[in-house]
Amino acid sequence: MAAVEFSTLAAGLWRQPTWGLTASELARWTQAVADLGVTTMDLADIYGGYTVEESFGAALREAPGLRDRLHLVTKCNIKLVNERRPQHTRHVYDSSAAHIIASAENSLRMLGTDRLDTFLLHRQDPLMDPDEVAEAFVQLEESGKVQAFGVSNFTPSHFSMLSSRLPMPLATNQVEASALCLEPFQDGTFDQTLERRVVPMAWSPLGGGRLFNDDTERTVRVRKALASVGSETELSVAGAAFAFLGRHPAGIVPVTGTQSLERIAEAQHALSVRLSREQWFEIWTASTDSSLP
Ligand SMILES: NC(=O)c1ccc[n+]([C@@H]2O[C@H](COP(=O)([O-])OP(=O)(O)OC[C@H]3O[C@@H](n4cnc5c(N)ncnc54)[C@H](OP(=O)(O)O)[C@@H]3O)[C@@H](O)[C@H]2O)c1
Repeated sequence: MAAVEFSTLAAGLWRQPTWGLTASELARWTQAVADLGVTTMDLADIYGGYTVEESFGAALREAPGLRDRLHLVTKCNIKLVNERRPQHTRHVYDSSAAHIIASAENSLRMLGTDRLDTFLLHRQDPLMDPDEVAEAFVQLEESGKVQAFGVSNFTPSHFSMLSSRLPMPLATNQVEASALCLEPFQDGTFDQTLERRVVPMAWSPLGGGRLFNDDTERTVRVRKALASVGSETELSVAGAAFAFLGRHPAGIVPVTGTQSLERIAEAQHALSVRLSREQWFEIWTASTDSSLP
């Protein structure tokens, strides 16, 4: 299997229901984002209470040729109690072969496409049987319905355990990471993706907006450090936060959540700015609130 190619920045559709766009407006937005070089689109079956894939599929139908410019990432294994899923009686995770296959087929229908570029297990599931996952992944790969597979929010040991039963490599571990969320830098997640040459994806690269609207001591400290580094590199606070992720050797692909084309363009530019060690550690130590040993 060829290595999976993500764009250096991915666009997240989680917040899409709040944008209030018609299908043709969402198509134009997606084209403009792709024109910026951001061609990886991050979705999940559950986004918008099981509505976002369908909205995105409607947008794709508005713009012939657009689908082939994109790398579609979507996810499964969370079952939400929702009026669109009356059969879900409780909020659970389900990584059974039957659920994975049914989810992929439903995502294909919603998106109106014949293939998912990367299909992720959304959450680490204590009841996941890796042999069942392998069975589902092989079936989806052999039928051409899914090109590559990955996981999200997996610990390194869970990632290893699943990998040990799969005939194909996992393409990514999509985890929360930002100047406000350093865990994957410290808990072995990025060590493992480096070791295995897997491209990690970082969700909420701006802390879901907390970087701007939270006034706790730590956030204020991190914002100040980002502003200081930004003033040296001609980046905004947000730009410096993207450059912070981009400087790490793991080759992190941030998944941005904004609707704003200007903010996406700025994030894309920031990923081409290489911070010095001094600048990177200024942000790191502001976040850890300790000097280096
Ligand atoms: N795998 C998972 O479990 C998981 C979990 C959560 C999210 N995700 C993925 O990650 C994507 C991104 O997550 P996220 O939306 O939390 O990311 P984020 O980029 O950290 O946060 C986006 C929020 O920050 C605001 N923002 C961005 N730039 C700003 C600025 N310069 N000043 C003020 N506010 C600013 C945005 O508002 P504006 O729209 O007004 O710019 C938006 O409300 C999601 O869409 C989803 O695809 C995955």
